[in-house]
Amino acid sequence: MTGFQSVHDGAAPAGVWAAPGRVNLIGEHTDYNDGFVLPVALPQAARAAVRLRTDGLLRLHSEQTGGGTVELRVADLVPGSVDGWAKYPAAVVWTLRAAGYRVGGADIDIDSDVPTGAGLSSSAAIECVVAAAYNDLHGIGLDRPALARLAQRAENEFVGVPCGIMDQMASVCCTEGNALFLDTRDLAQRQVPLDLAGAGLRLLVVDTRVKHDLADGAYAELRAGCERAAALLGLPALRDLAPAGLDAALDRLPTELRPLVRHVVTENARVQQAIAHLDLGDLAALGPILTAGHASLRDDYRVSCPETDLAVETAVAAGALGARMTGGGFGGSVIALTAADTLDTVAAAVTTAFTDAGYAAPRTFTAIPAPGAHRIS
Ligand code: GLA
Repeated sequence: MTGFQSVHDGAAPAGVWAAPGRVNLIGEHTDYNDGFVLPVALPQAARAAVRLRTDGLLRLHSEQTGGGTVELRVADLVPGSVDGWAKYPAAVVWTLRAAGYRVGGADIDIDSDVPTGAGLSSSAAIECVVAAAYNDLHGIGLDRPALARLAQRAENEFVGVPCGIMDQMASVCCTEGNALFLDTRDLAQRQVPLDLAGAGLRLLVVDTRVKHDLADGAYAELRAGCERAAALLGLPALRDLAPAGLDAALDRLPTELRPLVRHVVTENARVQQAIAHLDLGDLAALGPILTAGHASLRDDYRVSCPETDLAVETAVAAGALGARMTGGGFGGSVIALTAADTLDTVAAAVTTAFTDAGYAAPRTFTAIPAPGAHRIS
């Protein structure tokens, strides 16, 4: 945040906030079906140094892009009017005003170490950190779930991505040392201890460094397919279809919707199985659930790709207890649960497999459950 004063006329910020990226342990493409998710916040976070302005200008600077300051008139913000990384902070300011809060401009310097395009919610982290800063500086008083809803609305309405609520809830509501068990229907939540080190385990993250172009359009199509299936079944959402009713329901649906429904129903069940194991302190039992989740995303939901499939297969073959893609898919990252002493072997095996396949070397790191959005200073 040393850059704030140099890019914002020598003045000091009013404060600095942080909001993390996330990995999702299990519960993928369930959030827009009113289902269950189990994300973990990462130590990698977006940090924002912020000072309010009174002249209606939003002056945005990113430590990562190397570009100059982006200057926007708050009164001129409309969905679709801002490109690049600046659309995320702008989206939050627009959404606060659309929600009736009398907020204006600010000087904002963003410094994020959440890898971008890696399926680790770098954009949600920026939205959430700006929302947290405005909430504090204007004394708005939104609670954490309301902040996440606001950040999701920013992504849906200003950025134009029809995402669910998982990423923003993870960035705002996760706590150190825990996974967040979230019911996305009513935002009921429970912090579930995830003492990986205590269990002799590690959670390896493999950022494949690929993001296939399909990502945005396909996400919207998948979401629409799920909503159509729920409507055809006469249900409020696919969350309302119990595993026991799955086969009969599939018979009533057009062929192309069946795999989507099967994924969502079995994935919600996998989240509940995972929670049952975690509540018994059996973290290693998550392994096969992760791998089964990947098979469902690959074969039924069809959001994996050769790179994520290779990372998962290689990790499991090299001794991981289980592995799967995490996030929206079409590239991005894979998580692998390993014993502490096989972590390096698994990471090395994946890197070698990528080189052998002619792919760029992946980035690997271990995930340590970190806290959600907070004020640093
Ligand atoms: C993206 C979206 C989330 C969620 C995941 C898939 O990360 O932003 O809302 O739908 O994909 O689980």
